[in-house]
Parts: sequence; structure tokens; C-alpha cells
Amino acid sequence: MLDSISTESDPDDYAKLFEARTRPALPAEGLVRLFLGDYPNRPGLPKTGKVLDLGCGDGRNTSFLASIGFDAVGVDVSNPILHYARTHHGEAEYLVGSSSNIPIEKNSVEVLVAWNSINYFGHDNANFSKHFGEVKRVVRVGGYVVMSVPMRRNFIFDNSSRVHDWPGSRPGEEYMRIESDPWGHRVGEIIGSFSSEEAIKTSASEAFGGDVWVSSTVSDWFGLDYSWFVVVAQVGGNQGV
Ligand SMILES: C[S@@+](CC[C@H](N)C(=O)[O-])C[C@H]1O[C@@H](n2cnc3c(N)ncnc32)[C@H](O)[C@@H]1O
Repeated sequence: MLDSISTESDPDDYAKLFEARTRPALPAEGLVRLFLGDYPNRPGLPKTGKVLDLGCGDGRNTSFLASIGFDAVGVDVSNPILHYARTHHGEAEYLVGSSSNIPIEKNSVEVLVAWNSINYFGHDNANFSKHFGEVKRVVRVGGYVVMSVPMRRNFIFDNSSRVHDWPGSRPGEEYMRIESDPWGHRVGEIIGSFSSEEAIKTSASEAFGGDVWVSSTVSDWFGLDYSWFVVVAQVGGNQGV
């Protein structure tokens, strides 16, 4: 059992951000590079079969994944966001759910993408182990998990305070209560990160049971630190029931 951690965040806050947009956002550059680029040190990723975009937000990445050949499904905790995604990116299916309770059959997903979403803990009182365990349940053995997680130096952690003593967490996992967000909507949210590339690699290897490739992007973008870990993990045997 996880201890209860109170949060003041509202799962529908993101919808307010998306609704203010006059046009849908473009897909994440890192994902486009991962799926369409050719990098010798990155495993070749499939482009067909079922892809699950976990924490899909407005569907910008779900739509991209559908456009390259996947049968794409987006899952998010927020109903208003899913309404936005269905309206603007109707080429995919969208389901309400959470990273700790994914409304998808076990062993049914070829690639699971969690782009800046698996690290959100304000709405399901979970931790990385719980999210990773649920991800492993739905991805078939031999399938892939692709995720991005902000580094602790990322602007979202400015002034944040560490949430301590969350049972069941692995060494190197860090959970932070967000205090300042330049856009305002994530204050009170609990966002997780890792102390190092080694720590995220160890957690992902233990959780998914297959090979893990970790990359990172370190960037100052007009005064905001946009630094990220990017992980590709293959799911190994011993699939949970
Ligand atoms: C920073 S946005 C990223 C959205 C999208 N992946 C993208 O790259 O545009 C984080 C998303 O995660 C969703 N989210 C937050 N907690 C979640 C959870 N426990 N399970 C699933 N989605 C969650 C939010 O509603 C939001 O849409």
C-alpha cells in the first residue's frame, strides 16, 4: 500500500491550456527523431501494430504515431483533454485511464509511448514502480517502452520541494511537489524524476526485464531548462498476470 500524498493539482488543468490553443500542437521532436531517424546506437523500433500513447494530452503524439502506420490508442486521466484530442486528432482511439490503471488488455501493445507523462503522480497516489509494473502488464514480451522524464535541472522543478518517504520507491527516484510553473497549471502536482542516467536505467531494467537504452537532451530554451532523459526499454520475459 502506498501512503496517501495530498496534492492540490486538478487533472483537468491541462485541458484549459489546450483549449486556449487556436491550432493543435506539433508532435514532440524527440519522438519524431526516435521513430523516423536512423541512429546506430538506438534499437530499430517497430512502426506497425498497436501503439499506446499513455498520458496522451491533446493527442499530438498519438496522431503522429497513427500517421506513420501504427494502430494508435491514447489514454489520459483527463476527460476534457480527451475530448480535445478526439476533436483535433480523431485518427486514433482515446480512452480515459491512468498510468496505474490502463484500460487495455495484458500483452496486447507493441510499443507504449509515455512522453512526459509517466512521471505524473498527482492523480493516482502511485510511484514509478506501480506505473512501470502496469506498463509492463500491457506490453507484449519483446515489445518496447519509449518514455521521456524531465531531469531534476528542468525548469519544472524550480523551487519544488521533495516528497519524502514514499514506500516502495527504488534508490535514485525522486518525487517533487511543483511550486512554480511558468504556465501556472502544474502547481501542487507531484512529478517524479531520477537522480542520474544510471538510476533511471537501473529502474527501467528491473521493471521491464529487457535491454534498456538511455539518452538525454540538455537544453536551455530562452531561459528555461528543457533537459530530459529519454528511455527505450524492451520488455523481457516473466510477464505479470
Ligand atoms: C505534460 S502533459 C504531456 C502530454 C503528451 N504526452 C505530450 O507530450 O504532449 C502530461 C499529461 O499526463 C496526463 N496525466 C497526468 N497524470 C496521469 C496519470 N496518472 N495517468 C495518465 N495520464 C496522466 C495529464 O493529464 C497530461 O495530459
